[in-house]
Amino acid sequence: MVGKLKREPWSAMGKYVLITGATSGIGLAAAKELAVRGADLGIVARNQTKAKETVAQINALTGGQTKVDVFLADLTDQQSIRGVASEILTRCARIDVLINNAGAMFVKRILTRDGIEKTWAVNHLAPFLLTTLLLERIKMSGEARIITTSSHGHKMAKKGIAFDDLSAEKRYSFLQALMGGANFRYGETKLANILFTTELARLLEGTGVAANCYDPGLVVTNFNQDNGTLARMTMAVMKRFSRPVEKGAETLVWLADSNEISGESGKYYADRKEAIPTAAACSEEFARKLWEVSESQIRNSEIS
Ligand SMILES: NC(=O)c1ccc[n+]([C@@H]2O[C@H](COP(=O)([O-])OP(=O)(O)OC[C@H]3O[C@@H](n4cnc5c(N)ncnc54)[C@H](OP(=O)(O)O)[C@@H]3O)[C@@H](O)[C@H]2O)c1
Repeated sequence: MVGKLKREPWSAMGKYVLITGATSGIGLAAAKELAVRGADLGIVARNQTKAKETVAQINALTGGQTKVDVFLADLTDQQSIRGVASEILTRCARIDVLINNAGAMFVKRILTRDGIEKTWAVNHLAPFLLTTLLLERIKMSGEARIITTSSHGHKMAKKGIAFDDLSAEKRYSFLQALMGGANFRYGETKLANILFTTELARLLEGTGVAANCYDPGLVVTNFNQDNGTLARMTMAVMKRFSRPVEKGAETLVWLADSNEISGESGKYYADRKEAIPTAAACSEEFARKLWEVSESQIRNSEIS
């Protein structure tokens, strides 16, 4: 008789956690806490000096007891993502947890060198591309987790993603810009994080790899500080209603470390509880469509 395999309870201790956006804010707080809990880290950063500072901060906390690797990439650039993924595959035998956390918002419409609107490129296409490039290695780790930082901001894209305006020309048009078009664009990308998680979880069914996402709440970070005086003033006012980074990172750390959620996949969490996103975020049809569209948006960089 074949006995049931007994699984070890999950924890971050001894796991290899690859995280984007760990040089600031929520990602930095989560990286520190996960290192303290015994995880080895790979941080994907765009700024070498900030990455070195991050490693120094983590080593100071752990006394150098855990490993911290640095991988440099600009997540707005698909060639850079492809390059860093190949470096990660060379240097990392296993990836137990992938955390797609880096994110930004841009008040002006900027196209990346791949011709993609920048908020969409960094918040959605970067996680999509990085995850798909690393997926086989993640699956080889047996039980693994993929976590993406979404936001309550997805509620701004109430009607869903404007698939007919993916480069956001209408969103950033003069009229829509006056009505906060950039916020709606940001909302679309955070909705994309949830839909991406839904479809990823479906594709990963039966593999032992779970995909979940979460809302950190309103958190005091460097977010939206590069968008001019008005944005900085708005963030300064919002600071009064925001939580500290450690609190903002709590659900992320829990998703990476807790045994309680083993086996759960395709879910959206807030404050360490499952949460209900908008109807658009629950649409399996949108999730499949987003996957198809995203595949076509990364195809050009595959051959260049
Ligand atoms: N703060 C909030 O209230 C809030 C609420 C809901 C969701 N979120 C989400 O939380 C996540 C983290 O944001 P945060 O609030 O912690 O903001 P943050 O302090 O500005 O941190 C953002 C991180 O992303 C990195 N990053 C941005 N663009 C990048 C690029 N092109 N290539 C590589 N890395 C890049 C930044 O690197 P640098 O250090 O080099 O700038 C930084 O490490 C984002 O996905 C955001 O949408 C935030």
